[in-house]
Amino acid sequence: MSVSDLSCLTRHTDGGRVLVDDLGKRYGGAAGVDAVAGVSLDIAPGEFVAVVGASGCGKSTLLRILAGFEAPTSGTVEVGGRPVTRPGPDRGVVFQDYGLFPWLTVAENVRFGLRQRGTPRRRAGQIADAFIEVVGLTRFADRFPGELSGGMQQRVAIARVLANDPAVLLMDEPFGALDALTRTQMQHELRRLYREAGTTVVFVTHSIEEAVYLADRVVVMTGGAAKGVPGHITEVFPVLLGDDRDVNAADFNALERAISERVHAG
Ligand SMILES: Nc1ncnc2c1ncn2[C@@H]1O[C@H](COP(=O)(O)OP(=O)(O)O)[C@@H](O)[C@H]1O
Ligand SMILES: [Mg+2]
Repeated sequence: MSVSDLSCLTRHTDGGRVLVDDLGKRYGGAAGVDAVAGVSLDIAPGEFVAVVGASGCGKSTLLRILAGFEAPTSGTVEVGGRPVTRPGPDRGVVFQDYGLFPWLTVAENVRFGLRQRGTPRRRAGQIADAFIEVVGLTRFADRFPGELSGGMQQRVAIARVLANDPAVLLMDEPFGALDALTRTQMQHELRRLYREAGTTVVFVTHSIEEAVYLADRVVVMTGGAAKGVPGHITEVFPVLLGDDRDVNAADFNALERAISERVHAG
């Protein structure tokens, strides 16, 4: 059964607003380094925001703070009207270093959160199967993570987080380990699913093309400790290309180029 047939996704209407106000993060105390400073963002429920910028500009720091893995040094972060103080089921996280349970099979990993929240075994199994199909791993449902490639493990992590149906999805380079073809398929699925569910997405990527293909807005960050200025937002580009995006179209390429110039201008 497919994800749509099972109505696995609740439509999130008001749970997913993300409000970041004058956020700052310093690592290492008073004599430490300011990773980010003065970051403010207001993300509407159901909006897809991509964050791009050179390595070290604080993209992951921002995401880890939104996830509740780290506390800000200054400023505030709210999700769904509540201050973020710790990780929570309202926020689904796909980070490269946020692993699967190695002692559980693929299907058990994907079912885990659902069972934790009391979803009956049979329904949890159906939902897990549907999302495992979305990421193209049905044949591997009974394997253990250690038996899969890095890219396949990443797809399991994506299935797991989607099955949990969070109001906000936080993804840090989620497709980085995938080959080009799988990456395109996953981009396509993600776009379809988040639109269906009205999920808010904050998505960090190195690929400006991927950002323009997926996002409603692309946030450009520059700076970073190595540059002697804290990481900060330099520009926010709305993506006014409609739903049917063609990576080869002239307006697509023009926007991609403008964002790229902004990233490289520092
Ligand atoms: N746990 C940490 N301790 C000290 N410095 C850190 C830590 N995490 C990140 N940094 C520093 O903060 C800056 C931003 O890092 P990060 O958020 O990982 O950037 P990005 O994800 O954009 O590459 C970098 O200069 C990095 O070295
Ligand atoms: Mg990073």
